[in-house]
Amino acid sequence: MANIKFFSGKTTPIEMHRVRIIQKLNLLPIEERVAAIKRAGNNTFLLKNDDVFLDMLTDSGTNAMSNDQLAAMSQADDSYAGSATYYKLEDALRHVFGMKYFLPAHQGRACEHILSKFFVKPGQVVPMNYHFTTAKVHITILGGEILEIHVKEALNVDSTCPFKGNIDIALLKQVIAERGKEGIAYVRMEAGTNLIGGQPFSLQNLREVSAICRENGIPLVQDVSLLSDNLHFCKQREEICKNMSIHEIALAFAEASDILYFSGRKLGSARGGGICTNSKEHYMNLRDFVPLYEGFLTYGGMSVREMEALAVGLYETLDEDVISQGPQFIEFMVDELVKLGVPTVTPAGGLGCHVDARSFLSHLKDQEYPAGSLASALYLISGIRVMERGTLSEQRNEDGTEPIAHMELIRLALPRRVFTMSQIVYAVDRLNWLYQNRHLVGGLKWIDEPKILRFFFGTLEPIGDWQQKLVAKFKADFGDSL
Ligand code: F0G
Repeated sequence: MANIKFFSGKTTPIEMHRVRIIQKLNLLPIEERVAAIKRAGNNTFLLKNDDVFLDMLTDSGTNAMSNDQLAAMSQADDSYAGSATYYKLEDALRHVFGMKYFLPAHQGRACEHILSKFFVKPGQVVPMNYHFTTAKVHITILGGEILEIHVKEALNVDSTCPFKGNIDIALLKQVIAERGKEGIAYVRMEAGTNLIGGQPFSLQNLREVSAICRENGIPLVQDVSLLSDNLHFCKQREEICKNMSIHEIALAFAEASDILYFSGRKLGSARGGGICTNSKEHYMNLRDFVPLYEGFLTYGGMSVREMEALAVGLYETLDEDVISQGPQFIEFMVDELVKLGVPTVTPAGGLGCHVDARSFLSHLKDQEYPAGSLASALYLISGIRVMERGTLSEQRNEDGTEPIAHMELIRLALPRRVFTMSQIVYAVDRLNWLYQNRHLVGGLKWIDEPKILRFFFGTLEPIGDWQQKLVAKFKADFGDSL
């Protein structure tokens, strides 16, 4: 963001854009919110957006587009094969990453599907800084195994470590020594590591991982869905990046990797996805999956309008004013919550503000799903929809036992350029009230638990009548306020 100092000395993040199209919001009275969360089975994924005031579920496909992106959409070339739009997108990716080959896919998990289908053999392992929900299932469903080899600080909620997304180099060497090249499908590094609070890795760490992978002939796959935040943090926090442009850092990220894949619902603020590589061999190996699962090679399941928007969004990702807005708003929110004593993941990461539900609701057992309960309670008392990122987002083991998540978080995602400062202040205020009244929040139990990715459409109910008590306290404190 531009260097703007305030006379008061207090720094408040400033939007380097103005709002020109708006969408009206609605905050339902609390009684209607009680009914809505019940209908949704206490699963915020199942709420209707009309029943939501501030939708902080995700930044996926919900970032605000620029006027240039919207204008580009009207120029889309609607053709099945050889669309001019495809070549624009390919050019944008070549420019941003300097990689020759591009395979389009309809979104990020489609890339994970294609990559794991080709690379993962039963019994193989995929070492990574941390898993993402869909990335993990695509690997394990094929008989592969994920191995998280992050630095120790990664799982420390309250930390000053600037790069919690780093891989522990000693652990990487150990896995290679134990499993050998044949036992490792690829190494995966996730930029802006989602499930541990949008935490970045450093360019230095990426380069070290890359050197080891190259020495051992193991492909390095980078998930760059949350690249824009990671680029911002490298520029801010890493000495070797201080004098590099954002574009130079992006090129260095690509240079260190064999394959990049992304969700265009995040990177580029549009919708879609794809895989980039400089290797003709990787390209040829992966290419056949695209027409089979996604669509013809020049659209891969994406709408041409979204591809136009994505191409423009990718160029915009190289603009510091564009990519710093999200992390700076998140940092503001985290700082305010920390001042109030609300347990929050620090340092502030990208994508959203992450609250530590395990500590917030320390009276609950992990099996009562503190993060799911907190997400439900926060909707009840504020109309804000957040996402559970904890044990509910895990999948049961084959024997039916339940893996307890390392981190039990709720994520207040800040889709880029969508929310204003007063809405952030409202969210902080309601979280503060909830924290003061946390003893009233109880746990959840399953009504219906799907086998795969259960968090998307599973339904739950409160254990006991805590929701009624919470609503009564809200009314006592806020009177007729919504
Ligand atoms: N990788 C990362 C790091 C992600 O955050 C996501 C999606 C994906 C891959 C999958 O991409 O949704 O386009 O298929 N994250 C979303 C979220 C769902 O809400 O965090 P997708």
